[in-house]
Amino acid sequence: MKEFSTILTELSEGILLVTINREDKLNSLNRTVITELNEVVDEIYNNPEIKGAIITGKGPKAFVAGADISEFKGMNEEEGKALARRGHDVFDKIEMSGKPIIAAVNGFALGGGCELAMACHIRIASENAKFGQPEVKLGIIPGYGGTQRMTQLIGKGKALELLMTADIIDATCAEKLGLVNDVVQTVELIDTCKAMMQKITGMAPYAIAQVIQSVYAHFKSGIDGFDTEIDLFGKCVATEDFAEGTSAFLEKRKAKFEGK
Ligand code: COA
Repeated sequence: MKEFSTILTELSEGILLVTINREDKLNSLNRTVITELNEVVDEIYNNPEIKGAIITGKGPKAFVAGADISEFKGMNEEEGKALARRGHDVFDKIEMSGKPIIAAVNGFALGGGCELAMACHIRIASENAKFGQPEVKLGIIPGYGGTQRMTQLIGKGKALELLMTADIIDATCAEKLGLVNDVVQTVELIDTCKAMMQKITGMAPYAIAQVIQSVYAHFKSGIDGFDTEIDLFGKCVATEDFAEGTSAFLEKRKAKFEGK
């Protein structure tokens, strides 16, 4: 896989570990990171060797401390919209990936960092993780999907509170709100994410992709999630993996899925 200037990648046993690598700037998302992240996500979509991905931040302090504020200065309305649109495109692509993507939140997940974590399918946090959307302190709102994904994840009341107070919450509070799936010791973070990923990638890949699509259908306007589920259930039934999964169960053996 190609080398990036702001992102490290490591592929092992089908799991791509993606590390945002700007530790001195707390892994904040500048234009280069967004561009390179987009390329990494394309690789996740297109490389058959990648079964799932884990996104984390370099160093002990931050997952991602937000968009790079130094790039905000002097920006006009059109440039602001373009910046937000670009972030939306990449984060939407993460969310709609048919391959599972887990955020391993290893420290500050603020602004665009919290939004990146929320765009992933699952969030596991280390004990020192901190979450927040402090954009109103800067005179802006979240621009990478935060107002929508936070509302979807934790509900309107708490989302409005966090978005308007700019409060930064710890991992325990984030778990209580449903913002993260689990909190683990810092040293166990990546291994925990890998273990969960291995569990998921051991299932039928096509079925996993349809679970993701069907769940997100709930949030797409003009789409009936129940109808989507019926349609995607039918599509799963037509796969070789379904034949293999049911045969394996009846023959009391482990299924060997080919993703077909
Ligand atoms: N954009 C650009 N640079 C950032 C950044 C961001 N979002 N977050 C941190 N950095 C940089 C700091 O400017 C500093 O760089 P420097 O050493 O060249 O001065 C470096 O990362 C370390 O950050 P620092 O603020 O010194 O660490 P801290 O431990 O005192 O504070 C935070 C940590 C996360 C509380 C603080 O960095 C912060 O509030 N960051 C901005 C968070 C934010 O508002 N994000 C939303 C943006 S829309």
